Amino acid sequence: MSNLIKAVRGTRDILPPDTALWQHVEKACRDIFHLYNFHEIRTPVFEDTQLFARGVGEETDIVSKEMFTWEDRPRAQSEKAQSLTLRPENTAGVVRAYIEHKMGDTGKLQKLYYIGPQFRRERPQKGRYRQFYQIGAEVLGPVAAGSESPARDAEIIAMLAHLLREVGIKEWTLHVNSVGNADDRARYNQALREALAPVKDKMCGDCQRRAETNPLRVLDCKHPEDQQYIDDLPKISAYLGDESREHFNEVKKILNHVGIQYHVNERMVRGLDYYTRTTFEFTHGGLGAQSALLGGGRYDGLSEMLGGPKAPGIGFALGLDRFVLALQAEETVAAANLNPAVFVAPLGPGMNAEAAVIARDLRKHAIAAELGDDGFRVKKSFEAAERAGAKFILFVGENEVASGQFAIKNLGSGEQVNVARAEIVNWLKS
Ligand code: HAM
Repeated sequence: MSNLIKAVRGTRDILPPDTALWQHVEKACRDIFHLYNFHEIRTPVFEDTQLFARGVGEETDIVSKEMFTWEDRPRAQSEKAQSLTLRPENTAGVVRAYIEHKMGDTGKLQKLYYIGPQFRRERPQKGRYRQFYQIGAEVLGPVAAGSESPARDAEIIAMLAHLLREVGIKEWTLHVNSVGNADDRARYNQALREALAPVKDKMCGDCQRRAETNPLRVLDCKHPEDQQYIDDLPKISAYLGDESREHFNEVKKILNHVGIQYHVNERMVRGLDYYTRTTFEFTHGGLGAQSALLGGGRYDGLSEMLGGPKAPGIGFALGLDRFVLALQAEETVAAANLNPAVFVAPLGPGMNAEAAVIARDLRKHAIAAELGDDGFRVKKSFEAAERAGAKFILFVGENEVASGQFAIKNLGSGEQVNVARAEIVNWLKS
């Protein structure tokens, strides 16, 4: 059996009954997005590598270590091969689409959501996969449409609290921070560079390089030996200008007002370079090392970074895989019952066609039905109905067809009744 082909490391099959939980989360999210006036966008699963290099940032772990990238075959000999990448996240793709389709020209705020697979070559463990699924949303648009307002930040965070309640996850913690605007960031990066200068030689290779190129990314370092130096680095809060501070204060004020509890976590800079001002994460205690249920923040300069118009924005992405793990950890949601209501059992040779007509009529009336086979005897039909998880079994034999009376048995209670052909749907519905 050693030549069996298996799912690739870091990828997995999601099987029933777990898929019912996935659908439960997806449906709850779509319902909530509708209430907050978000509309779905679907962007390609692979993009030009430059989109992520420029959007997410060359020095991030995602871009420097984790992308699945390949060279496409050039269309003509004179052409250069294009570098393509499986999307590691969806914000850059959404902003690219916003620019490409001139969505800013409408003058209104774009409120977009997406559901789909993302790809990162991370070390697989519980809650961390190489193909994982995100549900995310972005609000972006011209400044005149209100895209910079702290009200947007607070509304997104409040929507997430609502969404978690709707999904059925109770034990979450919200962390918020402000990473400042471009000017604040420049001053903070300078302060980090100066603070790192005397210690960086004792740190890992990544930190030594990042101390020069993008000091903020030193804060992402996971090496235990480096943490003592990182703990002593200056904090972003000391470098926020008045504008960023007021923006953040307003976000917190609205959250207080609508009754959402949060912790200010000054170390939370998030692992992507596009963030400005508000950043946030929701964590869950039942997830182990990969405790982030979702993360997001503001990205006021991303559109310009990708060659587009000024279009401040804010958004988040939740890990669908982790939402399902959290639900399982809390054991609050019983898996939705997706089993068929009725097992239609043809009895005796030639009865498949009659049974098919009855099953068709049941399904037309939204009664989920599973079909047996006229090769099955009574005992085998019962076994198949139980295996399918059906509530009722309905026999279709020559006698039933001739008399127009059909035997229906409740597989739970054992009760059996005869029902006239025309009454089957009503009887099952009641
Ligand atoms: P992120 O923090 O990189 O942000 O990912 C968001 C969420 O995706 C994480 O909190 C986690 O639940 C899930 N996730 C990330 N990597 C993995 C993995 N390897 N396996 C399983 N789940 C994972 C972003 O991607 C940003 N685009 C979010 C955003 C949208 N910011 C603004 N708009």
